[in-house]
Amino acid sequence: MTTSRSPFRPDLLAGRSALVTGGGSGICFGIARELGRHGARLVLMGRRLEVLEEACAKLRAEGVTAVPFAGDVREPKDAAAAVAAATAAHGGLDLLVNGAAGNFLCPTDQLSANGFKTVIDIDLNGTFNMATAAFPALKARGASVILNISATLHYQGTPMQAHVMAAKAGIDALGRNLAAEWGEHGVRVVAVAPGLIGDTEGMRRLAPGDAVKKLAATVPLRRLGTIQDIANAALFLCSEAASYVTGEVLVVDGGQWLWKPAFVEREAWEKLAAARGPKA
Ligand code: COA
Repeated sequence: MTTSRSPFRPDLLAGRSALVTGGGSGICFGIARELGRHGARLVLMGRRLEVLEEACAKLRAEGVTAVPFAGDVREPKDAAAAVAAATAAHGGLDLLVNGAAGNFLCPTDQLSANGFKTVIDIDLNGTFNMATAAFPALKARGASVILNISATLHYQGTPMQAHVMAAKAGIDALGRNLAAEWGEHGVRVVAVAPGLIGDTEGMRRLAPGDAVKKLAATVPLRRLGTIQDIANAALFLCSEAASYVTGEVLVVDGGQWLWKPAFVEREAWEKLAAARGPKA
């Protein structure tokens, strides 16, 4: 079922059932697709049914079993209903991917309390709602996984992203807590932290025009990431290959978050070195 380019076994997730929030588009559609191509049966959750239906149709055309569920992760009753739908559709639940997220650029002094709260509600409270709703089903299966979609913004200070930084930091902390509490029930809780992913609507909105080129120069691996890079990492974390990994955040960013500008440009250093003369 998988493409010949996948580095993973095609039946890696055969017999597994996955619920992917935010799975109708972008990175989370890519993750859902990769889980499905490796045998998982999917439920995609999001707010807009038409987007989900289109996404499921694309997946079905590739031989992936996928059904839509329209709901808002901010609503605990929607979270419970989505878990019930996934369990009913596929006979249980093994994998929960918490991908639903909101983002916009806004200087913090211009950000309203409701703007801040909205992103915390979707990202952090949504992750809590989904995880707690899914826990009984995940526990019943054993060897199950919650995969949170984090970020690297909050490792440093990222202007205009206070709301997202706070939400993602909360998700990482919540993930470590759940990993500690739910490990004994066979539930692993892991996260992937995408860096600058080029082929997304988010990047087009958050880094318009020339900004993308400038950003790519700050990545040690000298390219923006792709949705496939994130999907591969997600598949690894959801698979038995990661069966002793829990509470961890896997950063997939080409080394970008740890990059800093050099004290001097290389050309300036070469001039200084030449002025010092040959090495003794
Ligand atoms: N700048 C500043 N504040 C903003 C904003 C922006 N671009 N977008 C939303 N807000 C504020 C609103 O002004 C509102 O606060 P207020 O009541 O004080 O005015 C609050 O956030 C809620 O906005 P609303 O549009 O009612 O919320 P929503 O639940 O319908 O949608 C988002 C919130 C974040 C999902 C929405 O901004 C959105 O659709 N973003 C694009 C999709 C997206 O973020 N995808 C994830 C990519 S990583």
